[in-house]
Amino acid sequence: MPSSLGTALTVSVFGQSHSPAVGCVVEGLPAGMPVDQDALAAFVARRAPGNDPWGTPRREPDLPRIVSGLNVDGETCGAPLAVIIENTNTRSQDYSNLLDVPRPGHADFTAWAKWHGAQDVPGGGHFSGRLTGPLCAAGALALQWLATRGVSVRAHVAELAGIEDAPFSALDNSVEAREALAREMSALADGRRMPTLDVEAGQRMIDAVMAARAERDTVGGVVECACCGLPAGVGSPMFDGIENVMARALFGIPAVKGVEFGRGFAAARMRGTENNDPYEVRDGACVPRTNNAGGILGGITTGAPLLVRCAFKPISSVMVEQDSVDLASMEPARLKVHGRHDTTAVIRAVPVVEAVCALAVADALLAWPPQE
Ligand SMILES: Cc1cc2nc3c(=O)[nH]c(=O)nc-3n(C[C@H](O)[C@H](O)[C@H](O)COP(=O)(O)O)c2cc1C
Repeated sequence: MPSSLGTALTVSVFGQSHSPAVGCVVEGLPAGMPVDQDALAAFVARRAPGNDPWGTPRREPDLPRIVSGLNVDGETCGAPLAVIIENTNTRSQDYSNLLDVPRPGHADFTAWAKWHGAQDVPGGGHFSGRLTGPLCAAGALALQWLATRGVSVRAHVAELAGIEDAPFSALDNSVEAREALAREMSALADGRRMPTLDVEAGQRMIDAVMAARAERDTVGGVVECACCGLPAGVGSPMFDGIENVMARALFGIPAVKGVEFGRGFAAARMRGTENNDPYEVRDGACVPRTNNAGGILGGITTGAPLLVRCAFKPISSVMVEQDSVDLASMEPARLKVHGRHDTTAVIRAVPVVEAVCALAVADALLAWPPQE
């Protein structure tokens, strides 16, 4: 049962919510790459719940510790690079009622069906949002390598509880739109509490999350991510395309239920004449004038910004009583969830989406140019 990803750049994620630690093993980073450990820790810290009331009250330092893979100068040495993040604040007793009665919407039932009771239940076990900590650590390393190749990756909360942020500018692939996208991406870098482009929309999202929380309920939404600086020609046709690689990685993030590229499902309602991206010559290169394709055609990059959107379902651990089944007696049961939970995964998932996109793109780039 591997929790592993990648071909040229591989990541294995290990741990459970209440095990001594969670972590990852990263292989395939070029040797001799200086690793900025402060930047890595700062990136991992972005997914912490902070003091915001919509985040889980479970607070931990979440300090990533690199235990393998660096030389004395702090550069990658070619050996597998392992990072651990200790779990220091666990309350397993909060989950005792879930040992036999699964939460609707969580993986308690499917883990029981697969592992016949041997699964680690407390905190959601290996299905916990805590496993996104190591993903962020691995992604931070990929981002550091991508920066040396001129590739940047940024995400924002595009929609939360039905309230929409302004979209990234990259659907228009003009020089002005690309400059606007760069400005939007760097504006998000200031660590704002709600990572939206439209600050007012962000405030309305906060109000909607707080309203749901007051009703002991949860909300979902959409994270949009842009990757800039990729050359045209990266990727493969059919099964190993950039879309395939990214979708596989993004569906590894807990609570992701949909992934779309460029216009995505909206393209199904467009005509070819609207959806096609006409080409033009810019600085001697052939470039698409618009970017409905989200930077990918035939699984291969067009050179336009890569645009992907991920739909997150609402957190399943709601604080109202719901119907379930006692799996020991096979009798109907009512379940009240205890424990400490987020009201939404969407806000904390923004750096996670950046990390996972960075891992997928770095994997494709490390395998490029193709040998065939
Ligand atoms: C950043 C993040 C935080 C999460 N926090 C919680 C949480 O506090 N409580 C919860 O029940 N699920 C939480 N989840 C979602 C569950 O981990 C997820 O729903 C579960 O593993 C089942 O997987 P699935 O939703 O992909 O089917 C979180 C997910 C992410 C990405």
